[in-house]
Amino acid sequence: MENPKLIILFCLFILLPSSLSTVIKVKQGKDEPYVGVNIGTDVSNLLSPAELVSFLQLEKITHVRLYDADDKILKALAKTKIRVIIAVPNNQLLAIGSSNATAANWIGRNVAAYYPETLITAVAVGDEVLTTIPSSAPLLMPAIESLYSALVAANLHTQIKISTPSSFSIVLDSFPPSQAFFNQTLSPVVSQLLQFLSRTQSPLMMNLYPYYVFMQNKGVVPLDNSLFKSLTPSKEMVDSNTLLHYTNVLDAMIDSVYFSMKNLNVTDVVVLVTETGWPSKGESKEPYATIDNSNTYNSNLIKHILDRSGTPLHPEFTSSVYIYELFNEDFRSPPISEAHWGLFYGNSTPVYLLHVSGSGTFLANDTTNQTYCIATEGTDTKTLQSALDWACGPGRANCAEIQAGENCYQPNNMYNHASYAFDSYYQKEKKAPGSCDFKGAATITTADPSHGNCIFPGSKKVSNKTRQVVNSIQASGAGSVRFFGTRMSSFDKDLHMIFLGVVFCWFYSFLS
Ligand SMILES: *[C@@H]1O[C@H](CO)[C@@H](O)[C@H](O)[C@H]1NC(C)=O
Ligand SMILES: *[C@@H]1O[C@H](CO)[C@@H](O)[C@H](O)[C@H]1NC(C)=O
Ligand SMILES: *[C@@H]1O[C@H](CO)[C@@H](O)[C@H](O)[C@H]1NC(C)=O
Ligand SMILES: *[C@@H]1O[C@H](CO)[C@@H](O)[C@H](O)[C@H]1NC(C)=O
Ligand SMILES: *[C@@H]1O[C@H](CO)[C@@H](O)[C@H](O)[C@H]1NC(C)=O
Ligand SMILES: *[C@@H]1O[C@H](CO)[C@@H](O)[C@H](O)[C@H]1NC(C)=O
Repeated sequence: MENPKLIILFCLFILLPSSLSTVIKVKQGKDEPYVGVNIGTDVSNLLSPAELVSFLQLEKITHVRLYDADDKILKALAKTKIRVIIAVPNNQLLAIGSSNATAANWIGRNVAAYYPETLITAVAVGDEVLTTIPSSAPLLMPAIESLYSALVAANLHTQIKISTPSSFSIVLDSFPPSQAFFNQTLSPVVSQLLQFLSRTQSPLMMNLYPYYVFMQNKGVVPLDNSLFKSLTPSKEMVDSNTLLHYTNVLDAMIDSVYFSMKNLNVTDVVVLVTETGWPSKGESKEPYATIDNSNTYNSNLIKHILDRSGTPLHPEFTSSVYIYELFNEDFRSPPISEAHWGLFYGNSTPVYLLHVSGSGTFLANDTTNQTYCIATEGTDTKTLQSALDWACGPGRANCAEIQAGENCYQPNNMYNHASYAFDSYYQKEKKAPGSCDFKGAATITTADPSHGNCIFPGSKKVSNKTRQVVNSIQASGAGSVRFFGTRMSSFDKDLHMIFLGVVFCWFYSFLS
């Protein structure tokens, strides 16, 4: 490359695309929505912190919110990729709001002591303070400001955000969304809060429950809209001022928060949904609190968020959400529904299996769309034998596990060994049509054929023997963080390329 023009062209062509792609990736990265879970602990026989963290990793849950700053849980989360929102409980607002020293002390003990080993992403100051303890409202901003000052002093304010979760009842006239506004009685505090969030680029935390909107407006708000079910256009809600079409209640709630902020001239604060969910059981006057509805709501919610379609007002931005909640809190006092918001029982068995196949790696126990290939019962031994021979030979299925002494050798019979080999072939072929036939000797099933320590290909079960290995792989990030891991690494590569390119071009211009 002796011609200087060629070198300059080279510089333009190499550097421009790689720097552009970096910009785009960073932009997407900032907006990458996720689904997290709330962890309430009013649970009998709560898992130990170490068990809890293993469970989160097993389920590939990467974002959690706590209602306090439990030191044992924060310690157990250290060196995992799980990101956590911690909280100042309402009963500590007075102390923190009235003394900068107490606030600094709180940050030192609950944040600085764990970060960055534990990935604390935000501090939620109080919970629904404006509506549940209005008398404490005057303490809210002083508490937030002094915690923020303490974070600045510890130089953690760029990594860790401060905000406060609010109930949707601070928003009045919420439908149509374009007419919504914040309760004016609360406006002085809400305005100050929004100025703070805008200044510190922090999200407005909102607890949003389409369930309650539906219950309070029965006959007006259809169940289908509340559950994100697909609607005929005539059932979509239309905002007559904006002509925006709303296919579900959650999007309408989020947009009404945006319109309320706009009313106060704030347009640069995003909404983070710190709670949303649907109970799976209730009193007789809560007939819609059912396992089916709860499953439908949470499954569709997860798909909706991971689809990244935003809201009608802000299609370019999808709020992240925290599902309320991880465990059924059986110690909660009535109504019955209070104890039935969980995805899992306290002992970590699922309340139901979510229908979230194809939505990535979140919640490992999704088996709704998983299928396996096993030997057809009653097939004669000769047919099974020749199919097994073909699968383990020309078919190149993985038959190591059915050798003597291995996990799937027992029960030692043709039916069992053929089932394993058929499934191995079927999964290897990515369940292609015709890959589970074996001349009629094989059948597709949705029931996981794994047993004991014998884990069939395609199963998400973890055997006793391999459990530890699997967990440590997940802890080191393989597949456990849905987007972040891969994004950062390719981003780093791009930066590296740009750096090399800049050095080269600079060096060249220096020489010439
Ligand atoms: C806390 O510090 C801020 C400035 O950092 C100051 O404006 C405020 O008056 C202090 N509050 C108290 C209660 O000392
Ligand atoms: C607005 O907030 C005030 C103070 O908390 C409360 O008393 C009032 O009922 C709220 N208004 C409405 C319409 O909810
Ligand atoms: C918002 O801005 C408009 C136009 O600049 C102004 O008339 C209005 O008073 C402002 N509202 C608030 C709450 O600041
Ligand atoms: C299962 O997968 C099929 C095809 O991949 C898809 O059409 C269907 O919606 C999925 N079912 C669930 C419950 O996710
Ligand atoms: C997955 O679901 C099965 C069947 O409901 C249950 O036995 C198992 O404990 C679950 N596994 C996890 C990790 O939740
Ligand atoms: C795990 O090991 C225990 C005790 O060794 C055994 O009782 C249990 O059945 C095993 N579970 C599985 C899934 O193999």
